[in-house]
Amino acid sequence: MSPSSAVSDFAAGDKAAQPQEPFRLGSPQHLTAFCRMLLDTHNPYKPAVMDWPKLEKDARNRLVALPIWDIAVQTEGRARLHVATYGNGIADPLLKKAVEMNAFEEGRHKHVLSNLVRAYGIELKPEPEYIVPKDPEWSFMVTGYSECIDSFFAFGLFDAAKRTGFFPEELVETFEPVIQEEARHILFFVNWVAWHRRTMPWWRRPYFELKVLRVWLFLIWERIGIARDVGHGVQDNNFTMTGAKQVGADIEVSDLMRICLSENDRRMARLDARLPRPSTVPALARFALRFMGKPKKAAS
Ligand SMILES: [Fe+2]
Ligand SMILES: [Fe+2]
Repeated sequence: MSPSSAVSDFAAGDKAAQPQEPFRLGSPQHLTAFCRMLLDTHNPYKPAVMDWPKLEKDARNRLVALPIWDIAVQTEGRARLHVATYGNGIADPLLKKAVEMNAFEEGRHKHVLSNLVRAYGIELKPEPEYIVPKDPEWSFMVTGYSECIDSFFAFGLFDAAKRTGFFPEELVETFEPVIQEEARHILFFVNWVAWHRRTMPWWRRPYFELKVLRVWLFLIWERIGIARDVGHGVQDNNFTMTGAKQVGADIEVSDLMRICLSENDRRMARLDARLPRPSTVPALARFALRFMGKPKKAAS
């Protein structure tokens, strides 16, 4: 498969243009809409037949030097296991199918990354053992909210890497389906949260809201710990931050934030307009921008 056919295959699967009935959050129609969004926009690309473009020496060296590859492969491996484990316990056949698709795509990301590192001669450390989570809902939520944070910044960094020429155009195009897949995953996840909290028994709801809060606190704690380790050359979950240092070296933080916001909107605009969008991370970015001054470069 050529990179451009991977992208156009995806575009053919976009459903945003079709007029659709409105629904109430938590209704069976809502469940159908967010599951169908994921299933109908699935891109059937095969990692084994993706062409990895030959890179000039400088571009290859920049890619190899990014300190993210071990953690990126491990993150995808863990995400696959966590999403698949949650999927095992789902009774509703459509939701189960969609969550299984999500898990399949995480496993495929791991394949894509493994092929990429092999194609460019990047050495990986041996992977740790992936442990089946004891609380599948917790792990599914940690994975989902992590993706809401990481994907938002990845959208901007990916575009910045294209603009600055950090990555050559062909490599950006080859990787594009993976980035768009994360946009679908986070839209699916926030709608699952909205649906799940409205359909669970009333007595479970306070426990669930506490769990949401605990997940956010856990992720903040994890990222603060990570920020401390970045200076010590430790590869960690915060590859968006590490990536920002490398890819966005020539970009002001405020400009990068604006690119993240516009890329987030652009990617979400391809997907079912009735579904509520991930809002927490974009809102925090908008809030932070209020203290960062005027744009130095155009963000679109
Ligand atoms: Fe992924
Ligand atoms: Fe994902």
